[in-house]
Amino acid sequence: MYNQLRLLQPWGFPSAPITIAALPSGKHIAFLARHGTGHSIQPSAVPSRANIAALKSLGVRAILAFSAVGSLREEIAPGAFALPAQIIDRTKGVRPASFFEGTNIVAHAAFGDPFTTRLVDWLEGRVRRALEEEGRGVQLFTGKTIVCMEGPQFSTRAESIMYRQWGGDLINMSVLPESKLAREAEISYALIATATDYDSWRPASAAVTAHDVLATLKANADTSRHVAAVVLAELAEDPEMEAIIGAEEGSMRWSIMPRS
Ligand code: ADE
Repeated sequence: MYNQLRLLQPWGFPSAPITIAALPSGKHIAFLARHGTGHSIQPSAVPSRANIAALKSLGVRAILAFSAVGSLREEIAPGAFALPAQIIDRTKGVRPASFFEGTNIVAHAAFGDPFTTRLVDWLEGRVRRALEEEGRGVQLFTGKTIVCMEGPQFSTRAESIMYRQWGGDLINMSVLPESKLAREAEISYALIATATDYDSWRPASAAVTAHDVLATLKANADTSRHVAAVVLAELAEDPEMEAIIGAEEGSMRWSIMPRS
């Protein structure tokens, strides 16, 4: 059963209509294309507050986000998948990054572990198995650090080399502020990063282009659909599901500063 909704929030409309599907178990899955239908929204213009607020208002409790990423490491070849553990913020402050911005409420969400550890740990074995079942030899990396840059231009060679020195393994333009806002909304959040290219740090290779990204995107999208179908169906049947998807609930309780 499918249903499509486009919800107006105080933060505007989400990127696209939200498709809702019912699983045989009776659980529901909502799908939202963060770059809009037909990929028409630039990374800096993604309405992340409207997206997260719309999902929250539908009752979404866990987000499994997918994103095309560049690789900053030789071993993470284009086509590989990763479940990152950390984020380095290289966005430029132009994306509204908090639901509390513009209010008189001062709140500091805990973000030391930006992805929901319980969900990421649960996903590791399941995603690995789904990739093995698919039989295309796609590798899965865990514990990696992703740099989120503003874009829309790709990094310079010097920036790309600097990110490696900082400990970055992957790079994209969209995990922030989405993951921060999910935390403020107490929604569990994990990212399945799909490597499309080597970023521009390799001395003997040409700098990354949109053409490189597109070349791997289609195969990665097919694999992502398979992984999503397997893990979402398994999660809905797991006796631990409540604890996994509810892992962030209550996390903002002590985040709002009392007025003096
Ligand atoms: N998304 C996919 N590849 C990327 C790259 N090399 N840099 C930033 N974002 C990306």
